Amino acid sequence: MQVYYFTRTGRSKAIAEELAVRYSTTAREIADDVDWQGAGGYIKAGYKAFRGEALPIRYKKPDDNEELILVFPVWASTLPPAVRTFLEKEGRARVICIPTSLGSKLKDRDGFAKIIDLVGKKIAAPISI
Ligand SMILES: Cc1cc2nc3c(=O)[nH]c(=O)nc-3n(C[C@H](O)[C@H](O)[C@H](O)COP(=O)(O)O)c2cc1C
Repeated sequence: MQVYYFTRTGRSKAIAEELAVRYSTTAREIADDVDWQGAGGYIKAGYKAFRGEALPIRYKKPDDNEELILVFPVWASTLPPAVRTFLEKEGRARVICIPTSLGSKLKDRDGFAKIIDLVGKKIAAPISI
């Protein structure tokens, strides 16, 4: 199992790291090198996600033969731009998708191997897959 995450405030990273321990692997970051911090960053993030934008990313290429867990925050009920790019490059069919949010479920749900929604202010890992 390979574990990937994208995060803005660290929640998705913490969950990915718990899962990585369980699978005796290392959680790998998807980085877009954009500063999403502060009120300006929040608004920019929501706007770009809402528009369905994809952004250039850096990440270690996954092994094509292994399953993949992807943990990330829901932005404006949809995918952050970096996550959109990752899924465009790697495909959804073998991705176990774990969106984290304060309450919403991810709207764009088609094509994943499995989706496990983690919603609410208190999200505890590990989760069962
Ligand atoms: C720009 C932006 C938009 C968001 N939109 C939603 C939303 O539509 N629904 C929701 O429940 N939470 C939303 N959130 C909250 C995050 O999904 C939630 O806090 C997430 O667990 C944060 O994960 P992270 O710490 O890995 O970045 C949004 C957060 C940001 C920054």
